[in-house]
Amino acid sequence: MELEELRQRIKKDFENTKLNLQTLSELRAQYLGKKGPIQEMLLDMKNLPNEEKPKLGEKVNALKTLATELFEAKKKEIEERAIEEQLSKEKVDVTLPGKEINQGSIHVLTKVIEEVEDLFIGMGYEVKDGPEVEQDLYNFQYLNIPKGHPARAMQDTFYVDVDRLLRSQTSAVQARTMLEFGGNKDVRIICPGRAYRRDDDDATHSHEFTQIEGLVVNKDVTMAELKGTLTIMAKRLFGEDREIRLRPSYFPFTEPSIEVDVSCFKCHGKGCGLCKGTGWIEILGAGMVNNNVLEMCGYDPKVYQGFAFGVGAERIAMLKYGIEDIRSLYANDLRQNKQFK
Ligand code: PHE
Repeated sequence: MELEELRQRIKKDFENTKLNLQTLSELRAQYLGKKGPIQEMLLDMKNLPNEEKPKLGEKVNALKTLATELFEAKKKEIEERAIEEQLSKEKVDVTLPGKEINQGSIHVLTKVIEEVEDLFIGMGYEVKDGPEVEQDLYNFQYLNIPKGHPARAMQDTFYVDVDRLLRSQTSAVQARTMLEFGGNKDVRIICPGRAYRRDDDDATHSHEFTQIEGLVVNKDVTMAELKGTLTIMAKRLFGEDREIRLRPSYFPFTEPSIEVDVSCFKCHGKGCGLCKGTGWIEILGAGMVNNNVLEMCGYDPKVYQGFAFGVGAERIAMLKYGIEDIRSLYANDLRQNKQFK
């Protein structure tokens, strides 16, 4: 029977596994199109006697439905297969080793400076900067060290000319800030920066180093606050159970002046190589701002007082991280840097 044969052919053709969207739509045109065999049969029906029309009509329509369903099913199948193929191509193998991204790290000196800055900013200090090629005036004279003063010998200085030098201490920023503030404004600053001295470089000396200076000037600051401040700094840098010890000392710009030791964090005070058997490690110099300095920088010493301290960032870094040679801090050796990621 012609209709049955067509049915078999349609089934066979639409189930062909090699079909793609293109050939499938050609197949649809071939069987279901206006000139296709199904349409032809429907048209031919008008020549049939009336009583045969419903019977055949039903069969042809069923065939049309079947062809349409087969087409839709195949189309869906092809589209799904395409998506699956696409997905399997794009699959990520999460077990493959990743590409190493080279990550930079902060230099240990920068790390120490930032740590100290953070601490003092938290206590209301402002960070101040100053020039490295400084005038003799700010580096020495305003700090109570006039030309020819023997205290200049404490700091062997690189001079650029008679009036200019590479600053030998960040204390120069002390003078600059007090003068800038004009003698009636409270000062609470921290100034980290490079300083230079004509030292012969060895494991513990460098002609170029990093100082962090602190200065507080107001009407009621006392040495007790200086001690408290330095205790907080020592604990933050070297551990909560650290203590500090003050020893009398001399700096031209402070009176009284002190040298500050921190209890040894290696032997906890028993005495070891690091603290040279004393249980204490010297970390900084400090004192109450000398009246002459206050006066020269515009502050009335009868009304204002202040404290200052200066600490070497290299010394802190070396103590804290067990670095034995100061020169390694300037060697630009990435192996050292990478340890401080
Ligand atoms: N500027 C001093 C130095 O370099 C350190 C210091 C700063 C001491 C502030 C007292 C007060 O030795």
